[in-house]
Amino acid sequence: MKPYVICHMLGSVDGRIKQDIWGFKDHHKYFEETAEKIPADAWLVGRVTMQEFSSKQEYTLPPATADVPKTDFVADQPEKSFAVVIDPAGKCFWDTNMVSTEHVIEVLTEQVPPNYLEHLRSKNVSYIFGGQKELNLALVLQKLHDLFDIKTVRIDGGGHVNGSFLKAGLIDEFSLVLAPVADGTINSPTVFEAAEGYGNRQATQFKIKSVEQIYEDFLWIRYQVVKNTEAAR
Ligand SMILES: NC(=O)c1ccc[n+]([C@@H]2O[C@H](COP(=O)([O-])OP(=O)(O)OC[C@H]3O[C@@H](n4cnc5c(N)ncnc54)[C@H](OP(=O)(O)O)[C@@H]3O)[C@@H](O)[C@H]2O)c1
Repeated sequence: MKPYVICHMLGSVDGRIKQDIWGFKDHHKYFEETAEKIPADAWLVGRVTMQEFSSKQEYTLPPATADVPKTDFVADQPEKSFAVVIDPAGKCFWDTNMVSTEHVIEVLTEQVPPNYLEHLRSKNVSYIFGGQKELNLALVLQKLHDLFDIKTVRIDGGGHVNGSFLKAGLIDEFSLVLAPVADGTINSPTVFEAAEGYGNRQATQFKIKSVEQIYEDFLWIRYQVVKNTEAAR
C-alpha cells in the first residue's frame, strides 16, 4: 500500500523556490508554519535540500570492515515521525540519526559502497534500497509504508525531487504557498523539475481544495491532483 502524498512548497509567482533574493526577513516561517498545519508521519526531501540539515563535517570514511548486505536497515529507535532523504549515491553524512524531532531514513540505490552503509549503521540511521541503479519511487513509498508504518508523506522539495514524484504520478495533493515576489532567475530550480523540453508527457492538472490569504500578501493554495484528466475537463 502507498502512503498518501502531499507536496508542499513555497514558490514565487514565477515558480522559483530559492529565496536568496526575495528580501523577506523571516523567510523560513512562510514555509514552516504552513507545513506544520499539514499532518504527516514523515517529510521527504531531495539530497540537495537535505544537505542543509545533514552533517557539515567533511567525512572521510575508512574502508569497510565487512561486506554489508544491500538489504533494508530499520534502526532500533523510538520515534514515530521521520525525515526521509532521496540520496541515491549516499552523499549525506550524519552526526546523529535525527533532524529536529524526526528519525532519518536514507533512500539509496545499490550503487552505494559498503563503507557508506557502515557509516549509516554506526549512527543508527535507517536506510532502504529503492533500486539497483535507478530509484523506483512507487517501491520507495511502499517500503516507507510497510517498514515504518508511514501513512502520509509530505514532500518538501526541492524541485527535482518534486518533479520526479510528479512524473511518476505519485503525488495526491499539492500545497503551494505563493509568495508575492517575481524572482526571474533563469536556470534556478522551480517547484517541479520533471523533464527537459516537451515530449509526449502531459502536464498534471489540479483542482482547488482551498485558498487562503495569509501574511497579508501571500496565498496558500491547496490543490487535489486530477488523476483522470480526460474525465475532469
Ligand atoms: N521554497 C521551498 O519551499 C523550498 C523547499 C525545499 C527546497 N528548496 C530549495 O531548493 C533547492 C534544492 O532544490 P533542487 O531541485 O536543486 O534539489 P533537490 O530536489 O533537493 O535534490 C535533488 C537531488 O535529489 C536526488 N534525487 C531526486 N529525485 C531523484 C530520483 N527520482 N532519482 C534519483 N535521485 C533523485 C538527486 O541526488 P544526486 O544529485 O545525489 O543524485 C538530485 O540531484 C535548495 O536551494 C533549497 O533551499 C526550496
